[in-house]
Amino acid sequence: MQIALFLLNNIILAFTLTGAQLLSKNTANKKKILIGTVLSFNKNPFHHGLKDSVSISENTAILINVNKIEKIGSPNELVAETQGAEVYDFQNNLLMSGFIDAHAHYPQTPIIASWGKRLIDWLNTYTFPEEEKYGNSKYAEQIADIYLDFLVSNGTTSVSTFCTIHPESVDAIFLAAQKRNMCLIAGKNAMDRNAPKALLDTPKRAYDESKKLIHKWHRTGRLRYAITPRFSPTSSPEQLSMLGELWAEHPDCLMQTHLSEQVDEIEWVQSLFPNTKDYLDTYEQFGLLGEKAIYGHAIHLKNREIERLKDVGAGLVHCPTSNTFIGSGLFNMEYLQEQRLNIGLATDTGGGSSFSMLRTMASCYEIAQLRNNALHPAQLLWLATVGSAKTLHLDKEIGNLKPGYFADVIALDLNSTDIITQRAKSGNTIWEVIFPTLMMGDDRAIAATFIAGNLVHSIKM
Ligand code: GUN
Ligand code: ZN
Repeated sequence: MQIALFLLNNIILAFTLTGAQLLSKNTANKKKILIGTVLSFNKNPFHHGLKDSVSISENTAILINVNKIEKIGSPNELVAETQGAEVYDFQNNLLMSGFIDAHAHYPQTPIIASWGKRLIDWLNTYTFPEEEKYGNSKYAEQIADIYLDFLVSNGTTSVSTFCTIHPESVDAIFLAAQKRNMCLIAGKNAMDRNAPKALLDTPKRAYDESKKLIHKWHRTGRLRYAITPRFSPTSSPEQLSMLGELWAEHPDCLMQTHLSEQVDEIEWVQSLFPNTKDYLDTYEQFGLLGEKAIYGHAIHLKNREIERLKDVGAGLVHCPTSNTFIGSGLFNMEYLQEQRLNIGLATDTGGGSSFSMLRTMASCYEIAQLRNNALHPAQLLWLATVGSAKTLHLDKEIGNLKPGYFADVIALDLNSTDIITQRAKSGNTIWEVIFPTLMMGDDRAIAATFIAGNLVHSIKM
């Protein structure tokens, strides 16, 4: 039996497996046992007490068979009953579901942290010129690979990402995800107005190309397609209507877009769609509101919009680092949770200023504090895992550690820096030990990332 020991205090080297190594890992030993402190969720901690919501058990083992979790139990018993398994002892690291980033733009990787603009100027100045490059497959593949490497080194095992208008950009990210056996959602941006000419398609082209991509990729292994009108201002009513038809023909697909991010944007939407009740109505009128819809941002919602979102059970995605970075506003987590909406958490890179879901949880906490609402660390972790999985309709297979779920698991080092360690050591409860990592942690806290049972990233002694 091979034993891999990750001793926490001597960490000096991080590695992420390359594409070729990933493929060879897929044929590696089919049973693995991961030992550590296991965190899993039973209920939503926004609506239930901690005891009922979360389970945290020290010195616990997760048995992985091929790509799924088979059993969670005592290390001695699982090692004794499983001949020939690889055993990874993570000691008192937290073993939990990989993070799920419910809204991002992988083509914006090269322009993350661009200075000084708000939404519409930021799109025109930084985003659109970069997105023009993605008709080139080689470039798209190169950025897709870099992007997914950033994700796994930050402990993110699934993402729902926008692409560009180019089908090549969609192929590139799905290929990169397939190589890593990653559960990933993506869609071609549809845009036929209010963007540079090189980034415009037409209603028919958006319909035809999206349909082709659905046939090519949707439910290929762990991949899912999301019909992706960028946002109402960059689509004509004709284009939104054709995408509504496409969604009606493929109701199994998700539909992702943006909603009510900045006040100026909302006024612009009103002027572009004078016959609609509000921003959400610009989607609803064209068949783009439903249970499998996911709306990024949703900051400045009107009561009518909240009621409609509740009626249909659509998902909202909170993008806190983006909302502060481009000055959009303060998402109302407390009220929207009270309304029982499905809410996930996301980086929104590159409007968001970090690839790290730890940094994103810190920002989420800070925004809620500005609204007089102190989120519990369990609530933050829920948003970054089960919450996101629910909005993406994947919560029966990812976002939690349970038998039958995909083995998308991370080992979170709760002592990854001296600063975190000196705070965590005076923690009186496990939550006081975890919280400093949520507030101050980064990729150094991700001791290991497993995707579908394969070790794809690790920090080694
Ligand atoms: N609204 C429309 N497109 C975008 C985008 O790329 N990023 C953000 N944050 N908002 C958008
Ligand atoms: Zn976005």
